[in-house]
Amino acid sequence: MAAPSLDVVVALAKRRGFVFQSSEIYGGLNGCWDFGPMGVELLRNLKEAWWQAMTSREDIEGLDAAILMHPRVWEASGHVEQFTDPMIDNKVSKARYRADTLIEDFIAGLRSKGKHQEADYWEERLRAASQPQDYYRIILDAQIPDPVSGTREWTEVRNFNLMFKTFIGPVEDDSSVVYLRPETAQGIYVNFLNVLQTSRQKIPFGIAQIGKAFRNEVNTRNFLFRTREFEQMEMQYFVKPGTEQEWFDYWLQERYRWYLQLGIPAERLRIRPHEKLAHYAAAAVDIEFLFPFGWGELEGIHSRTDFDLRRHMEFSGKRLEYTDPITRERYIPYVVETSAGATRSFLAFLCNAYDEELIPEERGTTEKRIVLRLHPFLAPVKVAVFPLVNREGMPERARKLYEELRRHFRAAYDDSGAIGRRYRRHDEIGTPFCVTIDGQTLQDDTVTIRDRDSMEQVRVHISNVVQYIRDHLVLQPV
Ligand code: GAP
Repeated sequence: MAAPSLDVVVALAKRRGFVFQSSEIYGGLNGCWDFGPMGVELLRNLKEAWWQAMTSREDIEGLDAAILMHPRVWEASGHVEQFTDPMIDNKVSKARYRADTLIEDFIAGLRSKGKHQEADYWEERLRAASQPQDYYRIILDAQIPDPVSGTREWTEVRNFNLMFKTFIGPVEDDSSVVYLRPETAQGIYVNFLNVLQTSRQKIPFGIAQIGKAFRNEVNTRNFLFRTREFEQMEMQYFVKPGTEQEWFDYWLQERYRWYLQLGIPAERLRIRPHEKLAHYAAAAVDIEFLFPFGWGELEGIHSRTDFDLRRHMEFSGKRLEYTDPITRERYIPYVVETSAGATRSFLAFLCNAYDEELIPEERGTTEKRIVLRLHPFLAPVKVAVFPLVNREGMPERARKLYEELRRHFRAAYDDSGAIGRRYRRHDEIGTPFCVTIDGQTLQDDTVTIRDRDSMEQVRVHISNVVQYIRDHLVLQPV
């Protein structure tokens, strides 16, 4: 089917226990989401796929740094000064917008009306904008109205720092300010020496980390796409200066392949070079996914020179250098970063997996089914076991098999309602295999395994079910 609308995906996520609004019974908290019983499994599997891809290698070590870090970290990284978004308020509706997003939406509106020349003009101006006053001028010149009130009474554009502040210890003053980290990467830079000295790695090598990050986004958008609390999967690869382009190309290919391997087709992925490079960056591209609302970044691959380690050296006074054990050459390593959003990828995998189809008539029904075609590795439940009927000893056999399978995989037992209804339930959460115990099982110890995607059934001996499922969970190289 054509890509589903975001609303349809959000509705399924709620109905089947993937994602709930945070603090829903109190009316919700904007930009924050809770992962329900199915969602937490999918998210864990996704992170596990990333963790395995990264840390099963010889040249990458894992790390789990604290969320709260010394406030100087964020001065060194540039976040205190520069991690800002331009923000504007409408004086009538009091609605607050990111100025650049307001302009982007205005441009998209022009395009939808076929006014491409005008759209190109404003896009060009937006591309050249960097200071608050640049955005302000565009909003005035283009006479952009407030989408809520329709008025053009705007405040000036101000820069707004996206870091959440809190206080460490009992005294709430300037000296006790700490930040909730807006990215996990800094935990890796500040531990560079610790990992180097304790792991006996040699350059080139990487450090991988998965963890929560927080950004006080002006406008949260599109469900899990832009949230205030989210999870990142980041890896910094430390290389010898001069070799960074080769490693940048390598990691871009590796990361692109990872999404393919987990079932995202190439036509829904694209690689987009950054239009503006940070002054220290040698190269930067985004891997994007075609969401229901358009192309959106999933992951950034950045060649960052020695910027981060050099800044931390300046601010901490510690030498964050590497000595080549053979040549004794001493240098500050360059970094190639792969920075992915776990919760944003979750949304991509969910949108990609969502499908609706008419069940072929030969199956004796003209029903429509909703099916999540998740890669079995990602699926929250790997296998469901059903007794065909709740008598003749079938439930007992089915429960026994379920208990056995549960030791190996996340499994479910389901004996309620007609068998077709049970299939539909499991199709909606993406369970790749449904095993049915029927009359024949009682005679010859065989069961049927029904494939979620093709709806075909195969009959296998009950003792082969574990191996059958295990074989299908393997991530095939692409
Ligand atoms: N260390 C580099 C860095 O953090 P980024 O492009 O700002 O780079 C990396 O973020 C990834 O984190 C993004 O590609 C996206 O997947 C995810 N991400 C960033 N902000 C997010 C937000 N507000 N909500 C959800 N995911 C976000």
